[in-house]
Amino acid sequence: MKIISVSNEREMSLEAARIIAALVRLKPKAILGLASGSTPLGAYKELARMWAEEGLDFSGVETVNPDEYIGLEETHPQSYRMYMRRHFTDLVAIPPHKVHLPNGMATDIEQECQDYDKLFESLGFPDLQLLGIGTNGHIAFNEPADFFTAQTHRVTLTEDTIDSNQRFFDNRHEVPTEAITVGMRGIMSSKRILLLACGKAKARAIAQTCRGPVTPRLPASILQLHPDATLIADREALSELDL
Ligand code: GLP
Repeated sequence: MKIISVSNEREMSLEAARIIAALVRLKPKAILGLASGSTPLGAYKELARMWAEEGLDFSGVETVNPDEYIGLEETHPQSYRMYMRRHFTDLVAIPPHKVHLPNGMATDIEQECQDYDKLFESLGFPDLQLLGIGTNGHIAFNEPADFFTAQTHRVTLTEDTIDSNQRFFDNRHEVPTEAITVGMRGIMSSKRILLLACGKAKARAIAQTCRGPVTPRLPASILQLHPDATLIADREALSELDL
């Protein structure tokens, strides 16, 4: 994995935005796999600025998110669909029909998972998959487990993840306990992976992602096997890694 070391969160965001903008300029019909969470927010903000001030054109782009909570209405402020609209796609005029996320309110979740995998067959896998990382090493919502799951699937969130995501909700009981996530096939089939991390809380997971054994106990470690994966991380996130 290529590692780009930056001094702080802002530099991480600018670097990520530059890479995504370059892709969109070279390939206006790019498929962007986009992450939610707090880590990519600065990159989305910078891309929105480039759209507004530099004419970066997203009109040909389609976006695919790797995960969504189960049980939150699409219009719930903490659904990942609303997150994408609020922080990125509405800001750069990507119309809703080109913004793809699993439907966490589907009556048949298993069918929804299968349908989401079919979407990749028709749309293609992302040209670039942007990812954050959980403190337990999860990517999208692939939580630590005994084996890697290839397909899009239903997942029960770990207590760690529920604790981390509680900050976005009024109280812990409101945090969904389940989600739909693409599996490792969806992530690893992306042509390029951009993993972002900042802050001390991610240091252990980042060290294990880059140097530990490839194991489903630390899901992000699978990225070591991707031919074009880049980590952009600040000094704190890299602090447990010997560079
Ligand atoms: C969430 C999301 C992930 C995200 C991760 C880290 O649970 N499902 O896509 O990468 O946790 O989030 P944050 O960037 O807020 O630390």
